[in-house]
Amino acid sequence: MATDKEHITLMFNDIAPTYDKLNHILSLNVDKSWRRKAGRHVKKAVTDLEKPLILDVACGTADSTVQLAKSIENADIRAIDISDGMLEIGKEKVAKLGLQDRISFSNSCAESIDFQDNTFDSVFVAFGVRNFSDREQGLKDILRVLKPSGTLLVLELSEPQNVIIRWFYNLYFRNILPIIGKRVSGNAEAYRYLQKTVEKFPMPKEFIAMLQSCGYQEIKHKALTFGLCRIYQAKKI
Ligand SMILES: C[S@@+](CC[C@H](N)C(=O)[O-])C[C@H]1O[C@@H](n2cnc3c(N)ncnc32)[C@H](O)[C@@H]1O
Repeated sequence: MATDKEHITLMFNDIAPTYDKLNHILSLNVDKSWRRKAGRHVKKAVTDLEKPLILDVACGTADSTVQLAKSIENADIRAIDISDGMLEIGKEKVAKLGLQDRISFSNSCAESIDFQDNTFDSVFVAFGVRNFSDREQGLKDILRVLKPSGTLLVLELSEPQNVIIRWFYNLYFRNILPIIGKRVSGNAEAYRYLQKTVEKFPMPKEFIAMLQSCGYQEIKHKALTFGLCRIYQAKKI
């Protein structure tokens, strides 16, 4: 499985035009409720602040960025991604919604974020961490740009732990999802990549240990929809 940045960028550029449509088809629209839930968690993390500044890392086509802007009406948001194809669709979406004064985009990678130390009140990453070519470096650089007392929220797909649910999940993820992915996007590799990255993503105990070793504290974790998705919350002290 290719994990180098250039390859990942090209792959997301290629699937960008069909990314949103496929997300909603493949998750049966459940991704929208996960994003809303994550938005509420970020809102809670910045609730005392008059004008929180939030960074959305690996923002893609900005579905999560827009959800953040809707959930936290007083927030200013910066959004970064390495794929210009995904960013272009995100920019159009944000302009159509009239949110361009509150959301700005730039091409920057998680491992070397183009912002100064201690800039953000909260950083959010939705379905992005598993794609980082150097996961630990990405998490460390996010810690660098978080203000002290700032909160990282990670939303990520995961394999359910219940054996019966996992059997159906594997059937769907390994056999059905790549076929639909190929039909709609024309890119079979991208949807095999999706399945492999989810399978390889660390289970909660391991990911929490990684967050700790990167310097985060007060780490919490919550499973959503039978563990098909998980929210991690971690603080910079
Ligand atoms: C599955 S999409 C998620 C997009 C969006 N956050 C969402 O909720 O739909 C993963 C995104 O991560 C981006 N990405 C992958 N590696 C990255 C990195 N190292 N730094 C920044 N973005 C990255 C990809 O270009 C892609 O847009």
